[in-house]
Amino acid sequence: MSYNITLIPGDGIGPEITAAVLKIIKHTGVDINWEIMSAGMEAMDKYRDPLPQETVDSIARNKLALKGPLTTPVGKGFRSVNVALRKEFDLYINQRPAKTFKGVKSHYDNVDLLIFRENTEEFYSGIEHYIDSSRSAAETIGIITRRGCERILKYAFEQTQLLGRKKITVVHKANIMKFTGGLFLDISKEVAVNYPLIKYEDKIVDNMAMQMVLNPNQFDSIVTTNLFGDILSDLASGLVGGLGFAPGANIGQGAAIFEAVHGSAPDIAGQNIANPCALVLGAVMMLNYIKEHKAADKIEKAVSKVIEDGLFVTKDINPTNYVGTKEMGEAIMKELDRQ
Ligand code: NAI
Repeated sequence: MSYNITLIPGDGIGPEITAAVLKIIKHTGVDINWEIMSAGMEAMDKYRDPLPQETVDSIARNKLALKGPLTTPVGKGFRSVNVALRKEFDLYINQRPAKTFKGVKSHYDNVDLLIFRENTEEFYSGIEHYIDSSRSAAETIGIITRRGCERILKYAFEQTQLLGRKKITVVHKANIMKFTGGLFLDISKEVAVNYPLIKYEDKIVDNMAMQMVLNPNQFDSIVTTNLFGDILSDLASGLVGGLGFAPGANIGQGAAIFEAVHGSAPDIAGQNIANPCALVLGAVMMLNYIKEHKAADKIEKAVSKVIEDGLFVTKDINPTNYVGTKEMGEAIMKELDRQ
């Protein structure tokens, strides 16, 4: 079977890591016709539009995309293309696993967290403005809907059950944001009733952050609203050795976009030192999504082995004895050959 999939290489370290990922996927024999499209800074330079219509059309046609990181100007300039894509295709689920790899120096062993983040509502809706031209005050509106809460919560409980996970932690700030946080919390209790075998608990986000740092192994699945999910998933990646290992899936009814949790890392771009694993693992999630489980398992095993051996890994994994992005990708392919 052959697949048409949109590829957005992205900017910063995006092109380097996507190049490695494409070679690895090709090596498994899965037949993909990549439609290479631009977005973000590159598209801004080329088309004066950070999200060109032909990129949107390509994803609409293929219903599937693999995306490198995209830079968003801070505090000015165009709005996030990542957020725009999630809204355009109503990708309301952001699924972000954080798992320990043997061979990666981190503070904990055996961390295995699965974060479900609501991906379209609340403070990422882009409803914001300065109240006057002298910028004396600013307002960002975070709307949470019953529909938005229900669909992410149902998906999180359903996946938790399907994956044989035992517990779900609902994270909120309903003590202060009594309406938005309160709605999310109330609906979580309504949904939980249908999943009696999953242990349910809720935690206020500040306590949750502290508990995750103190003892991440007490958590299993985590479901939360947009902003908290964004922050807690970076925190979770820090628990397993950093952003270089954290993939993410943006999933809706009609389309899905797979990526790394990390950004475009401008501080290390163009140097062949970025860790390709997060996007490789994003591709693994994509292959599982299209039911190419065999290829997905093979890549995941090869990544684990290369990291565990520690001989061909990037600088973030071993600062004293490291190889480049490209070379780590090649080591993963060699490992695929050995399997
Ligand atoms: P970042 O994730 O790009 O970088 C944070 C730190 O982690 C940096 O020190 C970077 O060198 C390091 N890092 C990130 N990925 C790495 C990798 N694969 N290997 C080794 N080290 C890695 O976050 P930052 O600096 O806050 O954001 C940079 C840009 O990326 C911003 O414009 C931001 O909006 C954008 N961004 C895009 C995302 C996406 O496309 N999904 C997600 C997050 C940020």
